[in-house]
Amino acid sequence: MSDRGTILVVMGASGDLARKSIYPALWSLYMHDLLPANTFIVGFARSKISIADILDKAFSPTEQEHAKFPGFSGINFYEYGSYSDAEESLLLSLRFDSIEEHFRQKHLSGHNRIFYVALPPSVYQSVTTLIKQVWMAPGEGKTTLVLEKPFGTNLGSCDELSDHLSDLFQSEQIRLVDHYLWLEMTGTIMTVRSVNSLFSQIWDKNFISSVLISFKEDFGTQGRGGYFDKSGIIRDVMQNHLLQLLCVVAMEIPCGCSQESAIIEKSKLLEAISPIDPDEVVLGQYIGNSDREDGYLDDPTVPDDSLTPTFATIVFHINNDRWKGVPFIMTAGKALNETKDEIRIQFKSSLMEDIGLDLKRNELVFQIKPVENVAMNVIINEPGLSPRLIEDRLSLDLRKHFSNHRFPDAYENLFAHLLGDGQSIGSFVGAEELRISWEIFSPLLEKIESEQWKPIPYKFGSSGPVKAGQLIQAKGFKGFETHLL
Ligand code: BG6
Repeated sequence: MSDRGTILVVMGASGDLARKSIYPALWSLYMHDLLPANTFIVGFARSKISIADILDKAFSPTEQEHAKFPGFSGINFYEYGSYSDAEESLLLSLRFDSIEEHFRQKHLSGHNRIFYVALPPSVYQSVTTLIKQVWMAPGEGKTTLVLEKPFGTNLGSCDELSDHLSDLFQSEQIRLVDHYLWLEMTGTIMTVRSVNSLFSQIWDKNFISSVLISFKEDFGTQGRGGYFDKSGIIRDVMQNHLLQLLCVVAMEIPCGCSQESAIIEKSKLLEAISPIDPDEVVLGQYIGNSDREDGYLDDPTVPDDSLTPTFATIVFHINNDRWKGVPFIMTAGKALNETKDEIRIQFKSSLMEDIGLDLKRNELVFQIKPVENVAMNVIINEPGLSPRLIEDRLSLDLRKHFSNHRFPDAYENLFAHLLGDGQSIGSFVGAEELRISWEIFSPLLEKIESEQWKPIPYKFGSSGPVKAGQLIQAKGFKGFETHLL
């Protein structure tokens, strides 16, 4: 057991991310005795609220869980202050002092501080400056700064943020998080493709014809229109979450499985991505439907003439030995017919197809959300006296199969890693990798914005613009539309 304490500071503790993801994850870890001893959690924000308000809104303990709640509440504090002024944030400094005194009385040799910055990017610079000036862990203690997207809105602002951070902190003190890297299924994809020779030997252009990475949500911006309108679907989920998934499918297997080697392999892969061809991009924006679900422009926080895409399909080409010629298609949208994230890997045509039989392709499907599933489409004989060849699915629903197991969510996995011994699987985003990701997306975003591309309207609850399905088919991906039914 470590002889050091830890203070986790949740900056932006009154916000949405803290309420929906951070506090529920920390509570769940505590409930399962997975928070290391001598950990204290200090929420910080501008509002004059209490820790009870924050915990109340974040989760409700069940009857069986009640007994543990006072213990959790006892390691949680909240202080209010400013994100830019040390004097106005004195309460946080005082809280650090009192926890430090507590650690001293317990004869711990010191403590580490982790600052989780769950704040809008407009305050990143001031808050990180304040952390550096006033709140670094004393003595030998380690300070870690954890940031989540958006890491800039284009290449220029990403560089500005990176320069600012690297002036203040050493690279090992900065952790850039993409929560998709901490999803249960993300680790499974890596394992399936690398450990099973059945797949590892055919994981390239000789056997794979195309890859579809799709993100669908059956709800709209739900009051987040103000944020979303400045971002759009490409910045919101494609430049980060879906690009990370693309990396997990396509990068070379990192040697030694260390965080650093994964970041190096991701960067190499991203370097090999060719500039996006604007003709291989379809944008959409949802409109209201007959069930009276509002369109994007009905959101009062969205300007009436907004051209922000809520849907996009983009084709990527990876110019390396392994993937040359295999289209990687990303498609993402809000207000669609279902909520589902999945990766579909289609294999080259079967013998049957070569002799003219119109069959589906063999396909490996990783469903990431809302349930974790690994499935394989195979061609078999339909039972009967005169069998027909049909396509069917071998499917492994992880939650059903491992019904006695707990499925920690992405933030639990992340905090277990940050607070624990750092040995758990998962990965962060590297600074260079981030820069390359913006090199890929910035030219397209500039073009879309300067030329004022008009997104194609699609109805709330539909499967998105028909043109997107046509682009996907044109890239040789089979069965996209039937899958949507
Ligand atoms: C966020 C996006 O990063 O990821 C949201 O801003 C999106 O628009 C969300 O809904 C999806 O992740 P999760 O884990 O909330 O389903």
